Amino acid sequence: MTSACIIIDRDRTIGTVDRRLFGSFVEHLGRAVYNGIYEPGHPTADQHGFRQDVLALVRELGVTTVRYPGGNFVSSYRWEDGVGPRDQRPRRIDLAWHSIETNEVGLDEFATWARLADTELMLAVNLGTRGIEAAVDLYEYANIKSGTSLADARIDHGTPEPHDVRMWCLGNEMDGPWQVGYTDADAYGRLAAQTARALRRADESLELVLCGSSKPDMPTFGAWERTALMHAYEVVDYISCHAYYEELDGDAPSFLASGVDMDRFIEAVAATADQVRAELKSDKMMKISFDEWNVWYNRRFHREDKITDPQKWPYAPRLLEDRYTVTDSVVVGGLLISLLNHSDRVRAASLAQLVNVIAPIMTEPGGPAWRQTIFYPFADMARMSGDVALDVVVEAPTHPTARYGEVAAIDAAATIDSSTGELSVFVVNRSLHAAIDVEIETRGLETTAVAESTGLWDADRHAANTLEQPQRVTARPASARLEGGRLRITVPPVSWTALRMR
Ligand code: AHR
Repeated sequence: MTSACIIIDRDRTIGTVDRRLFGSFVEHLGRAVYNGIYEPGHPTADQHGFRQDVLALVRELGVTTVRYPGGNFVSSYRWEDGVGPRDQRPRRIDLAWHSIETNEVGLDEFATWARLADTELMLAVNLGTRGIEAAVDLYEYANIKSGTSLADARIDHGTPEPHDVRMWCLGNEMDGPWQVGYTDADAYGRLAAQTARALRRADESLELVLCGSSKPDMPTFGAWERTALMHAYEVVDYISCHAYYEELDGDAPSFLASGVDMDRFIEAVAATADQVRAELKSDKMMKISFDEWNVWYNRRFHREDKITDPQKWPYAPRLLEDRYTVTDSVVVGGLLISLLNHSDRVRAASLAQLVNVIAPIMTEPGGPAWRQTIFYPFADMARMSGDVALDVVVEAPTHPTARYGEVAAIDAAATIDSSTGELSVFVVNRSLHAAIDVEIETRGLETTAVAESTGLWDADRHAANTLEQPQRVTARPASARLEGGRLRITVPPVSWTALRMR
C-alpha cells in the first residue's frame, strides 16, 4: 500500500465559494428538453408537462443555476418563436443539431421549470444570426415588470411576474466554425461590447458573460480572449471557458488526470484577462464562468451518421447520450476539484449538460429516470461544500501520464463552512491499480468526528448505470477514521471520496 498526505491549514484560504459553481446547462438538443425534462404523457408529468421524477433528481443533484437555451442551438434561435399560444408557435429547422424544433417549450415554460427545480435561470442570447435588438427585446420580455409592449405580451401569455434573469451570456462559442454565424475575435468583441452596453443602459446590475474560446486547443486560444476582452473588458463581468474530456486511444492515465488540463486552462485564461486589465489600467478583476464542462465522447459523436436532408430531420432524437462509467465519474470529480481550487477566479460554472444529453440524469420515454455515475461526485460536492475554499497541499506518489508528464496520483480540495465550522474534503485517486492510504493533517482546525464519508469506485472501472441496471453503481460508504486526532482514509484505485468533518 502506498501513502499520501493532505495538509489543510485553516489560515490558507483561496476565497469564498460562489454557489453558482454548481450550475448546469439545458440546451434544446436531442432529448434534453423534449422527452427529457418535458414529457406531457409521462405518468409523473405535472400540469405543465414536466416530469416530476426528473425534477426530484435535479433537486437531489443540487444544481444552483441552469444555462439555457444553448449552446450551439442559441446561435440561430429566435426566442420569440418560443413564447405565446403554443398552437401558434412555428416548427423550425434547427441548424445546430439537424433536428426539428417545435417550440412547445420556450422561455416562460423553462423559467417555470427552473423555479420548480430550485435553480437560477441564466440566459444566452443569439449573437450568431441576430444581435443587439433581439437581445434587448428578450431582456424587455424577460425582466421588465409591465407597461411596455414586450413586458405586457409576457403578461398576456400568462406570466405576470418578470423572470428577473441576472446572468446573460453574450452568444456561444463564437470562434467555432461549427457555430452558425461564427466570426473573428475583433468582430465578436465589438458586437458583444455593443450588446453589453445596450443591456446595461436598461439595467447596470446585469451580470454579463463574454465568450472565450470554445476549447483550450482552438488555434486562436489566447489571442481570441485578449482581443475580445480589449473590446469588452469594462462592460462584462465574466469570460467563459468550455472544456470537454474523453479517454483518447485507450490512454486512461492521462484521462484520469484531466483536472491538470483544466487547472492550466483556467490559469491561462486568468493570466490573459489580467494582462488586458494591466493594459487597460482597469481596477476590475475579470471573473471566469466555466459554463460548459464535462466528459464527452465527442469523437464517437462525430462518427455518428448525420442526416443531411432537412426534410428528414427528426424531433427529439437520441443525440450525445453518453453512458458514463466509474472512470468518467472520477474524472468529473477531478474537474470539480479543479473548479473548487480556482474558486477565487471561477465564480460560476455549468456542468454540461443536465438531462439525457451528456448528462448526469437519464430518462426513458414513458419509463424511469436514473442517475449516471457522474451524478454522485457532483451531488456530493454541491451538498457538502462550505462557503470558503482552503488551499490544500498534497504529497502523493506520482502518476505518470503521456499528456501531462508525472502528476500526483491524489488530487484534493477542501472547504470550510464558516457558520458551522465543518470541514469538507474531496479526494480523487487517479491511480489505475494502487489503493492509497491518505492521512489528512489539519492545522488550526480540530476535527472531532466524521459526519459524512462517501465515495464511488468499483472493481470494474468500466461499470455504468443503464435502463436495465439503473443502480449498478451507487455511492458507497468511505473508510474515513479518526486515529489519535489524525484523519485517515484508504482510497481505492480510480475512486472519488467526499468527507465532512465536525
Ligand atoms: O454541450 C454540447 C455542445 O458543446 C454545445 O452546444 C456547444 O456549446 C459545445 O460545443
